[in-house]
Amino acid sequence: MFQNIGAYSGIVIIFTSVAHGAVAFCCSSVQHTFSSACERPFPSCMKICKAPIHNRRGFNVFLSECIPTSSTKTERTVRAEQWSPAKSDGQGQEFRDKIVLWRGEKAAGYSEQFRHLELSNVMVALGDKTEIERLTFTNVLACDGDRKLRDREVDLFDSAMQFVAAESGIPPSHDALVRATERCSLIRETYEVLNQADTLENLADLAIESNALKDFLTATWRVRLRQFGPPERSDKKRRYGKNARSSLRAEKEAINSMAKLFIQFVGKVSLEDPECNLYIFEGTKGKKFILARLIAKGAKTSDIAPRSRICVTNTPLEEVAAFSLANFARVKNGDNVLDPYAGSCATLLAAAFVAPQCNTVGIEIGLRKFVKKDDILADFSSRALKLPAAIIGGDSMNKRIRDRARRAVGVAPFDAIVTDPPYGIREKHGPDELPPLVQLLDVIIADRETGAPLLRKGGRLVAFVPVTAGQEIKSSLPSQDQLDEAGLEVTEMREQLLSDTLSRWLVALTCTR
Ligand SMILES: C[S@@+](CC[C@H](N)C(=O)[O-])C[C@H]1O[C@@H](n2cnc3c(N)ncnc32)[C@H](O)[C@@H]1O
Repeated sequence: MFQNIGAYSGIVIIFTSVAHGAVAFCCSSVQHTFSSACERPFPSCMKICKAPIHNRRGFNVFLSECIPTSSTKTERTVRAEQWSPAKSDGQGQEFRDKIVLWRGEKAAGYSEQFRHLELSNVMVALGDKTEIERLTFTNVLACDGDRKLRDREVDLFDSAMQFVAAESGIPPSHDALVRATERCSLIRETYEVLNQADTLENLADLAIESNALKDFLTATWRVRLRQFGPPERSDKKRRYGKNARSSLRAEKEAINSMAKLFIQFVGKVSLEDPECNLYIFEGTKGKKFILARLIAKGAKTSDIAPRSRICVTNTPLEEVAAFSLANFARVKNGDNVLDPYAGSCATLLAAAFVAPQCNTVGIEIGLRKFVKKDDILADFSSRALKLPAAIIGGDSMNKRIRDRARRAVGVAPFDAIVTDPPYGIREKHGPDELPPLVQLLDVIIADRETGAPLLRKGGRLVAFVPVTAGQEIKSSLPSQDQLDEAGLEVTEMREQLLSDTLSRWLVALTCTR
């Protein structure tokens, strides 16, 4: 009877030594509830300027203002604790809980502020409107009072993996979440929960009872164990992210403990590319074990990493940031996308990745001098991405240049402007010059007045705005009057701390008329 498991265990040693995978990352404390904040404009540009970048407290206050908290918080927490498999939505549709394992790039928590918003914006871009009205996120992990950890580290640990659901408690549909995950730069993996129990033996019993594997018994399969929780050695932090690996011995023991379940598999074990990729999560909230199935992996952002490209400037936008911009801009297939400060076109590469049929146009003043058009095109073609409709050398503040950009996509206004403008912090621009985003809005206003708008109604302008210590974000932003004149509304702003002295804000503006 245990022959299959024996065979599996034998193979596990080879596989895990090669592909012992990464797991969670980390971030903030309590469950966040996210409304499509994208749809919820800030009252005014000025109200967003209160967060001094080194004041963690101020920063958190700001975030709590931006992210509406849920009236259903308690209800959601309870739901996660009393979890049961394959529930019904009351209309005969069965659903399973979904878990998102977030990515934290570079320093832990680097991308924490963007995660929920990226997922939600992607869902809007993909047209899953019913899915995004309100999403709630509930922590899967809970750090149980480890005194060695600072509060921030506890927060990071707790929010590394989260249940995701609509406000009603019903998770996004399987297909919608798979599609969204594949576009998100800040999701490592997404799972559907099969069962949850206090012990591995009970987990196996529940899975058998609920027939959790019924659709996969003939599929190729594999099982991995991920142990979250206290460090094995006293000098190590708690395990999450890549550190949440488990020993081969622990993995084998866990599989053996659940042998009566896995023995049901008729299909072969496949360590490389299984159709049914199961995970046992140990050490989740309430000391529970979770049996989950991997349903999707996040975007492979490393495909456009500067180190992998032929064309790079001295200020290349890193790959996750480029994907975030494209996703916050909700770029869709068929959209016309402009980067008026294109550099090596990282933003446009990301746009072409997330929406392979979008039409991209870049304007770069240093074309020929700093970047070569052929190199940029080679970066697109070597990744089998649709080539840009135009890479234009020139000053995007010049109307003739913008007219050329519009002509490249059929004289239409753009659906999205995604850009990392040349702020003086990293690139020299004259001390008397207006901030680039302010200059850009000036030309957007001028183009509207001539009847040739740069951005269509409903279109989005998404940009990064860096801020140094002691500097206020509002000094780099357009005024409310300028926004009004440009027909733009601030719909999202998030600060991302880059170092002790530098942070940047992701600013999303929507064209309302
Ligand atoms: C921060 S960099 C953009 C980097 C780009 N995202 C990348 O990954 O390479 C800003 C770029 O804007 C260009 N630039 C500055 N002023 C410009 C203007 N008025 N029109 C067009 N490009 C401009 C600079 O030459 C620089 O390459």
